This record gives sequence, C-alpha cells and structure tokens, in this order.
Amino acid sequence: MKQYENVVVFDHPLIKHKIAILRDEKTSMKEFRELVEEITTLMTFESLKEGVPTVEKQVKTPLETCVQQVVEDNAVAVVPILRAGLGMVNGVHRLFPLAKVGHIGMYRDEETLEPKPYYCKLPDGIEEKLVLLVDPMLATGGSACDAIQLLKERGCKNIKFMAIIGAPEGVSRVAESHPDVEIYVSTLDRCLNDKGYILPGLGDAGDRLFGTK
Ligand code: PRP
Ligand code: URA
Repeated sequence: MKQYENVVVFDHPLIKHKIAILRDEKTSMKEFRELVEEITTLMTFESLKEGVPTVEKQVKTPLETCVQQVVEDNAVAVVPILRAGLGMVNGVHRLFPLAKVGHIGMYRDEETLEPKPYYCKLPDGIEEKLVLLVDPMLATGGSACDAIQLLKERGCKNIKFMAIIGAPEGVSRVAESHPDVEIYVSTLDRCLNDKGYILPGLGDAGDRLFGTK
C-alpha cells in the first residue's frame, strides 16, 4: 500500500498478540468483546497522545501547590459506527469517561457493498470537540468515508478514525477521500475477498460481538 501522511499503522506486539486471539474462530463472544475493548483502550492511548485540548489546573500536593495540565472536560466525543463500533465505546470511556457518544447507523448492502445509512444521533456541540470515530473493521472504506462525510456536514473539523483491522484498499480510499482526517489501524491485512470480507480478518465483527450468528 502507498504511504499516507494521515495513516498510522500501530503494529504493536501487544496489540498484535490480542488481535491473534480475536481472529481465532474459537474465541468466545465474551472474550471477543473484552479484547475489542482492551485493544481500543490501547489504541486510544496512542492515537490521542497529540491534539487533546488541555487546561491548566492548580493542584495542592501535601508539600506545595503546583500548576498541572489536565484534559479539558468534554473535549472528546466518541462516535461508533453501528453495530460493531459499539464494541469499542467502553474502551474509549476507560480513558475519557466524560466523552459523549454519538451514533451513526450503517449497514453494507450485501450485493453492492455500498453503505446504507439508517440512523444518526450526535451530541449537541459535537462540532467543537475532537471526534473519535470508531469501527473495528475498515474493509472497502465505504462506511468510514460516509460516516466522516456526515460528521463534516454537521460541522466537525477535528476527526480521528480508529479501526482495529484495515484492508489496504479501504485504508487508501479513506486516506485519499479525507486527507484531513487521521486514520489509525492496529494492523493492515492482506486484501478483501469477493464478498468484501477482510482476509485473513476475523469474520463479521458485529456478529462475533453480539452473537447474531
Ligand atoms: C461492518 C463493519 C463496518 C463495515 C466495514 O459493518 O463493522 O461498519 O462493515 O465495511 P466497509 O469498509 O466495506 O464499509 P456491517 O455493514 O457488517 O454492519 P454491522 O456492524 O451491523 O454488522
Ligand atoms: N465487516 C466485517 O465485520 N468484517 C469484514 O471482514 C468486513 C466488513
């Protein structure tokens, strides 16, 4: 895949270890859900190391008073792409417990693989926040591109997108369509199959999170 300035592939050994378990078809729904949450927390820590608004606060230690940088309340919003993105919300909340949550509902048409939007509810004032859009799978990139477009139409200017597994074609599509959005993927897989599934991938993330198959 071409190199993009707005794409970061983590390739961290600890995250890779957890993704190996996530991929395994024998991994239970419970363990799958827990791993998605844990990986999301690790990704959030890394992807938000820059750009999070902070403010100064006076802190009184047992010895003296000092000025410290703390994260601004309500600086971050998390927006999962339904359904599978829901599995990542708690992972963000572990680090940003005050993050408000918007929801964007999209499913892929099984024939055309085009995303079909069916729901959108975003918190008031989201346009002023750092928006963390989350979805475990970035396949053709159609869902992510449309979700980002929707956020931009609502006035969001500071958007980061996090996916656990990305396919090269999807990563390229999002990177080129939205060069102003930072894209974080934990690992880059080989390609898509003729049904638009990521190879080797992990199957259908929504079904594995929610036990629908
Ligand atoms: C999956 C996944 C992404 C989308 C990725 O959702 O969670 O939203 O596919 O594919 P794309 O990059 O080709 O758009 P799906 O449409 O299966 O819906 P679900 O989460 O409700 O199962
Ligand atoms: N959505 C998934 O859940 N898995 C894939 O491999 C592709 C899209």
